[in-house]
Amino acid sequence: MLTTWLTRELGITYPIVGAPMGGRAGGKLTGEVSRAGGIGMLGAARYTTPEWIAAEATVARDIGGVFGVGLMTWALDDDDALLDAALAARPALVSLSFGDPAPYVPRVHEAGVLAIAQVNTIEDLRVAENAGVDAVVAQGAEAGGHTGRIATLPLLQEVLESTTLPVLAAGGIATGRGLAAVLAAGGAGALIGTVLLGSPETIGPAYAVDRLLRAASTDTVYTDVFDKARHQPWSPRWFGRAIRNSFSDQFHGSGAGEDQIAAEYEADDPDHGVVYAGQAAGLVKASRPVAEVVSGIGSDAEKLLSRFCGM
Ligand SMILES: Cc1cc2nc3c(=O)[nH]c(=O)nc-3n(C[C@H](O)[C@H](O)[C@H](O)COP(=O)(O)O)c2cc1C
Repeated sequence: MLTTWLTRELGITYPIVGAPMGGRAGGKLTGEVSRAGGIGMLGAARYTTPEWIAAEATVARDIGGVFGVGLMTWALDDDDALLDAALAARPALVSLSFGDPAPYVPRVHEAGVLAIAQVNTIEDLRVAENAGVDAVVAQGAEAGGHTGRIATLPLLQEVLESTTLPVLAAGGIATGRGLAAVLAAGGAGALIGTVLLGSPETIGPAYAVDRLLRAASTDTVYTDVFDKARHQPWSPRWFGRAIRNSFSDQFHGSGAGEDQIAAEYEADDPDHGVVYAGQAAGLVKASRPVAEVVSGIGSDAEKLLSRFCGM
């Protein structure tokens, strides 16, 4: 048994959180992570609707019982209807990442829900602590999707040394070895994203799973070209890590303006369309059901740590 703050608070078997992944983590994937013993999170991107959250939360609950919802904090500053929709769906966990969660944490707590925030620097950690979150996630630069610039291991150590809050890790964790390392370091669990993207339960464009399965760990790029291509107003503090393709090869670092980049973007073309994924892409070799991936990571970590404890 791997018992941590996370498993105790949520009553789950494994200290594994299915990362919120906008455009890829709907109700089915979320529910399957929970059914396997972790907790799945719906990824509510900026363009998500309250109706989507309500419908996918029902799917997740029916499959796995407990679930969470991940929101983009900076996008709530313009319109917080997605937070209302998330809380109305009665999740156990809400993630408020990329921005200051202070305006939103009291509402999450009033609803009896745990609040976590992904942090990319020690300054972010202080902002999250001041906001009153229940736990933080040290999200490293090797993570898929939007992230910061410090790698998971140095950031995790720095955050663990600097806070009394429970700390989870995100970025590059895709095997029992990765989870065991996080727990042995003092972490309360891990968010896993990229390792789930080869699974049939993901949503998104048809080409995305194939691209992921063919990618090596060297095939990702940390870039803002896909934000510009889709007119997503992200702060330059957070670029996105994606599998490189001919579109990113052409425009990343090219100096081209947003209008030109957006005009040339064809989302349906696999050589243009964004497939956000992290450096753990190289560890995903086959399309496996989500439940098998999650239970495999959890049970392998248990075995490794019991061996480690016997040493
Ligand atoms: C396709 C994709 C979409 C993501 N979308 C979100 C999101 O909507 N909100 C969020 O907080 N994090 C998002 N992330 C980041 C994840 O929550 C998490 O930090 C990351 O997947 C962990 O690293 P890993 O991909 O190496 O496992 C996304 C990641 C991916 C791969």
